[in-house]
Amino acid sequence: MVRYFLFLLVLITILVVSIAGLRDYSFLPHKTKRPPIEIFPDMVRQDKVKAQAPSDFYDDGRGARANVAGTVPVGYSAPESSAQASEGVATMGSPYSVVVFSGKQDYADTGKIGTNWGNGIPFSATMATLERGRERYQIQCAVCHGATGAGNGIATKYGLVGVANLQQQRIRDMSDGEIYNTIVNGKNTMMGYGSVIQVPDRWAIVAYMRALQRSQNATINDVPTANRAALTGTNAASATTGAAKP
Ligand code: HEC
Repeated sequence: MVRYFLFLLVLITILVVSIAGLRDYSFLPHKTKRPPIEIFPDMVRQDKVKAQAPSDFYDDGRGARANVAGTVPVGYSAPESSAQASEGVATMGSPYSVVVFSGKQDYADTGKIGTNWGNGIPFSATMATLERGRERYQIQCAVCHGATGAGNGIATKYGLVGVANLQQQRIRDMSDGEIYNTIVNGKNTMMGYGSVIQVPDRWAIVAYMRALQRSQNATINDVPTANRAALTGTNAASATTGAAKP
């Protein structure tokens, strides 16, 4: 008797699990939009907010929330005071203690002097500026323009066409202000990055881009005398006669 009972129990269990446990009822004649009976929910349904979806959790019923006051992008520290932040470019002597995305209408903010593109980095660019520029360039620009600016970043391997080679003479001749403006507002098919790169970083990227261009057009005269001996044979010879090969 007990044996039959156990056998029946096992059979019924298997039957219930195999029918009710299935998630896909499309084999049934009537499809239903209701969720299936889930014996093993496998954590399919969770308490979370989907993008653009409403939420009962908040009084106003919106799922999308504004940033908490005082939120700072990763890698930046909060402005020390609002007065200092609004000074904007004035704080660029020690640039990286404040977040500055835009402010005034002067050269440092627009790349323009009067109605023309200006030239020069509007604060004293040090080795630290170049290092910062390198870091920001590699984060923001290298995917498309490539590590040396040759226009061969990883995105081009996935079909992005028309990425400018930053080593071309036209762009070497371009004024710093125009390059700055390209970073902020984009150019033709390149979108602007002004909303994600703060003012001092934009200039740091310009400075680093100049260093990249210089690096591909260096001669032996750019090498400190003490280090020239290390450049032997054909390298040194081709370097003296003009542009070094990348
Ligand atoms: C998503 C890809 C992409 C990223 C990221 C990108 N660029 Fe570009 N960039 C382009 C493309 C594409 C062009 C060519 C636009 C055209 O002329 O059609 C271009 C053109 C340029 C030019 C030449 C503009 C001119 O006047 O011809 C400069 C300078 C430049 N980019 C600098 C940068 C810098 C600096 C960054 C990083 C802050 C950057 N780009 C990030 C795609 C990108």
